[in-house]
Order: sequence, then structure tokens, then C-alpha cells
Amino acid sequence: MRTYSFAEYKDAADVIKSRISIVPEIGLVLGSGLGQLADEVEGIEPGTDPVIIDYKDIPGWPASTVFGHKGRLVIGKLGGRNVVVQQGRAHFYEGYSLSEVTFAVRVMKLLGVNTLVLTNAAGGLNVFFHPGDIMLITDHIGFAGMAGNNPLCGPNMEEFGTRFPDMSQAYDREYIQLAKAAAVRKGVPVQSGVYVWLSGPSFETPAEVRMLRAMGGDAVGMSTVPEVIAARHCGMRVLGFSGITNKNSDNGEAMTTHEEVLEAANVIGPKIITILKEILPDL
Ligand code: HPA
Repeated sequence: MRTYSFAEYKDAADVIKSRISIVPEIGLVLGSGLGQLADEVEGIEPGTDPVIIDYKDIPGWPASTVFGHKGRLVIGKLGGRNVVVQQGRAHFYEGYSLSEVTFAVRVMKLLGVNTLVLTNAAGGLNVFFHPGDIMLITDHIGFAGMAGNNPLCGPNMEEFGTRFPDMSQAYDREYIQLAKAAAVRKGVPVQSGVYVWLSGPSFETPAEVRMLRAMGGDAVGMSTVPEVIAARHCGMRVLGFSGITNKNSDNGEAMTTHEEVLEAANVIGPKIITILKEILPDL
């Protein structure tokens, strides 16, 4: 199973630093079909292009294999802030270790990132959610992690954080309030709720949907939680958005497909962009 030494995280960060002249303060992780957000990033001087670095040019960086994920970093200005945008992420279901899944977060930390904004495509467990809705993540159930797949398992890396990190406020409360207020100002309706992480790649059975709902889950997906755990471990503040791409069937009457997930993401992307641009100056 692939793990990394501190020197390997640092090597990756150094390669990126050699290509940029700014310190990115905010990291953005774009989920399935939400890559268009990266097109909004500008270079440091207005009207110039951002710096683009392919994952394959960064030592240690896992390549994204999922259709709808590009596999590159876009570094520049968004909403007046220095940002590094991860266009595509590694998932556990691709066969990557959780060290690989969270590699990017730790490298971003070494670049200077203190705020991490994560987006994902998720299924709606909450019966009041509809495809195209945005959900602000208020908390998570790391179901796959609770069953033994926590990204912090193994020797603790003291350089990043403590052995037993607190998760009582994994999702920054001030950021959630900022995002809610921004959504109201911009007339973009938002939901809020609990995100459940499953390893995937198979979608849920109706019985699993009923169980996850009974557990208190509002949305379900295959990412984000490992990255949030790694980010909180190294002291980053976190804001998370789920784009609800499909309604999870609790009776087997409807199917879920990757195509429908990508299609709904097209509606979701612009909504998240609107809210993000509004709050970036305040993060
Ligand atoms: N389940 C799990 N992950 C997902 C779903 C879903 O229904 N939709 C998008 N990602």
C-alpha cells in the first residue's frame, strides 16, 4: 500500500513552488463534473492566464482515472484571492490508498493553504432534496473510515498534526454562515446537511439507502471525507459543498447512473461558482 514520507510531500510542494510566484491561501477541490470552476481562475495580473500543472508532472501525485475529472492544478486568482484549484481528485474506489487520496491536501498545506473548499457530486438521501440542489456540508459520517479505512491510520506524521485530532467542528461554522448569507444575497437556494462517505464504486442498494437515511445522512458520496480528515489533522479550515446529482431510491424503482450524475453537475457548477465568488474575499 502506497504511503509517503514527509520528504515526498515536500518534494511535490517544491516542484509546484518552483512554477509559481504566489503563496496560495485557499485550496479548492473540484468534484465530478464540477471542473468548470477552474475556468474562472485568472493569472496574478488581471487578464493573464493561471499557471496549470498536470498531476503527472508532480512527483508522487496520483493520476485521476475517472471520466469527468481532468487531472491538473490551476493556480492563480479567484475572487481576489490566491488559490490552487485541484481539477480532479483521486478516489479510494480507483484502488488508491488513502494516503494517495489525501496526498494533495498535505501538499497544499505545504504550499501555504489554510482554507480548503471541497466540492463533490452526491446522491440525495434526504427526501426533500432534488437533483440540481446544493448542500452545504455541516457534518459527515465517515462510514468507510469508521469501518477501518481512516486516512490517518498508520504512524502519525507529527509534522502535520496530532495523533488523535478533534472532529467536533470539522466543517467551519463561520464559513457555513458566510456561505448561507452569500446564497441568500445571490438568490441561490441552498440546503444543508450531513454527508455520508462510502467507498463505492457501486451505488447504494435500496436497503442501504434506508439505513443511511435512518443513520442521519442527507447526502451520500464516494469522496471528500478522507480529505476533510487530513485537512483538519493539519489545521486547515474546511468548507464543503455537495451537489445533489440524483435522488437515491429506497424502493428500487429508480436507477442511478454516472451519466445522470455528470448531467446534473452542469446545473450545480454555476450555482457553486456564484456562492464561492461571493464568499472567497471573506474566507
Ligand atoms: N451515491 C454515491 N455517490 C454518488 C451518488 C450516489 O447516489 N451520486 C453521486 N455520487
